[in-house]
Amino acid sequence: MSKTATVCRITAPAIRSRKGGTPLVCLTAYTTPMARMLDDAVDLMLVGDSLGMVLYGMDSTLGVTLDMMIAHGQAVMRGSKRACVIVDMPFGTTQESPEAAFRNCARVMQETGCAGIKLEGGREMAETVHFLTQRGIPVMGHTGLRPQMVNTLGGYRSRGHGEREAKAILDDSIAIAEAGAFCVVLEGMVEDLAKEITARVDIPTIGIGASSVCDGQILVTEDMTGLFGQNVPKFVQVFGDVGGESQRAIDAYANAVRRREFPSQKNVYKPKQGTAKPRLAQIAG
Ligand code: KIV
Repeated sequence: MSKTATVCRITAPAIRSRKGGTPLVCLTAYTTPMARMLDDAVDLMLVGDSLGMVLYGMDSTLGVTLDMMIAHGQAVMRGSKRACVIVDMPFGTTQESPEAAFRNCARVMQETGCAGIKLEGGREMAETVHFLTQRGIPVMGHTGLRPQMVNTLGGYRSRGHGEREAKAILDDSIAIAEAGAFCVVLEGMVEDLAKEITARVDIPTIGIGASSVCDGQILVTEDMTGLFGQNVPKFVQVFGDVGGESQRAIDAYANAVRRREFPSQKNVYKPKQGTAKPRLAQIAG
């Protein structure tokens, strides 16, 4: 038997088994270089459909396509060896029927090699989550603030302020967990609701704007590194100013080119030692 190095990744069941344990560390990744940087630091990388807004400058995530998610999923898989990679299902690819959802999710899993998919939705998606998980597709749920519902919800405000809304989100989260999801993202909701959901479901809750009561946390990497500007939502902490540093580097390059300080002699190719200097005037004829 050949001794090829086997890639040993964190699996969806391994993530599920972390309920109530050390907090799960999750971040978004869209590209190979970012996946390389995250791989040793995180348990789970999400190829989120937020890439539509963060990378492509869209106003919402609704214009993101399955082909875009597959291309970025492949890029993230190429840059990682260890973390559990989950690919987000874009708007319109899971809502129609469990069968249509299965076809689209199976395509994502086959073409990227990811460990599972994420879909937004509550009770109305429970049947689909059951259908998928029974057929070999691990599902990460996503309740609370659901960016794909921006047009029906009328914006991106935080959720669960009134009793009725909080109860609906609690019921949504329980339905997704009972349908077989291996974990659930709780986005943009009041702390008490996140606490109640975390206590009531037997799968890890992964918070984004849902406080530290969750079993894990996720952020958009570009937000927490300052790559998407400093104007981030209240729930984000900017842990480093990579965006500012990149801007300084770009400005320094532009100035150096204008002043003819770049390229300098150390960036210039010289003839190899021992080779005759080409007589360019003669070559040119
Ligand atoms: O699309 C995304 O990046 C997400 C996370 C913010 C949870 O859904």
